[in-house]
Amino acid sequence: MSKPFLSIERLTQQFPDGQGGALTVFENATFGIEKGEFVCILGHSGCGKSTIMNILAGLAEPTSGGVKMDGTEVSGPSLDRGVVFQNYSLLPWLSALKNVTFGVKARYPEWSKAKVEQHARDYLAMVGLEGDVVHRKPSQLSGGMRQRVSIARAFANHPKLLLLDEPFGALDALTRGTIQDELLKIWGGTEQTVFMITHDIDEAILLADRILLMTNGPFARVAESVEITIPRPRNRTEIVEHPNYYAIRNHLVQFLGQRSKELAGQPSDDPDQRPATVRIDKTAAADPEPEPAPRLQAVNT
Ligand SMILES: Nc1ncnc2c1ncn2[C@@H]1O[C@H](COP(=O)(O)OP(=O)(O)OP(=O)(O)O)[C@@H](O)[C@H]1O
Ligand SMILES: [Mg+2]
Repeated sequence: MSKPFLSIERLTQQFPDGQGGALTVFENATFGIEKGEFVCILGHSGCGKSTIMNILAGLAEPTSGGVKMDGTEVSGPSLDRGVVFQNYSLLPWLSALKNVTFGVKARYPEWSKAKVEQHARDYLAMVGLEGDVVHRKPSQLSGGMRQRVSIARAFANHPKLLLLDEPFGALDALTRGTIQDELLKIWGGTEQTVFMITHDIDEAILLADRILLMTNGPFARVAESVEITIPRPRNRTEIVEHPNYYAIRNHLVQFLGQRSKELAGQPSDDPDQRPATVRIDKTAAADPEPEPAPRLQAVNT
């Protein structure tokens, strides 16, 4: 099998536990993400999602193991990887507009000043920030507005890999819906790969090709990779009518409510701790073919 675009290999992260010992957040996590895939990760608070994302971004070094993107070891940040942080992380001394143009200038040094500014304004407008508000500094913006600037900044750079840490957490439902749709539009028209952390199960089903499920920490692991067997384009009102929707949703709820605890701290038989692939497809049962496919298939890959 060819190597995936993003390859996470036996990643282990330990931190000092504050009492002279070590806290193992996760151990030997191994999984891959294909080019152009949209992958969401779900897991309880503290299981290590942001830690994984910081390592993928090249902003933190794991205790052991590594990450390869396009066959090259990830070390240090790169314009090829755009990040929306859980706490927005804007540059406080720059206006919303300059927070976006800053990266665009670095990405496209040959562009004129006017072109850079127009590009940044287009992305800010896409997240609903237009007019005088773009000249305000982060401290003069609401939490939701800051989050939107952070989204515009990451998207405007057209990175090969978008790393999103609960990017819509601070947004009201309406804005959230609009920006989710914009994200799907941007992603659909490019070769971009998206890795997104979310606590929202319905958001994950709407957006993702696959959802990775993490057990509780310490010694957390990515236990399952659940395929979202619902065709695109998806629409938030129609998606719930699809026969697979509630079957997938129930599986995710059950994992987060129960199995994430039961499996906590238990390594799998696989030394690389690869997630089991879970494919739930109720439409296969309605197939008139005499050999019905199993409704739930869980295999180690
Ligand atoms: N720099 C650090 N030093 C020590 N411990 C850390 C550090 N960063 C994270 N941790 C610990 O690692 C664990 C995982 O943290 P992480 O932020 O990755 O969780 P998370 O899954 O993103 O949680 P949430 O959903 O609340 O954002 C936690 O127990 C946290 O306390
Ligand atoms: Mg986090």
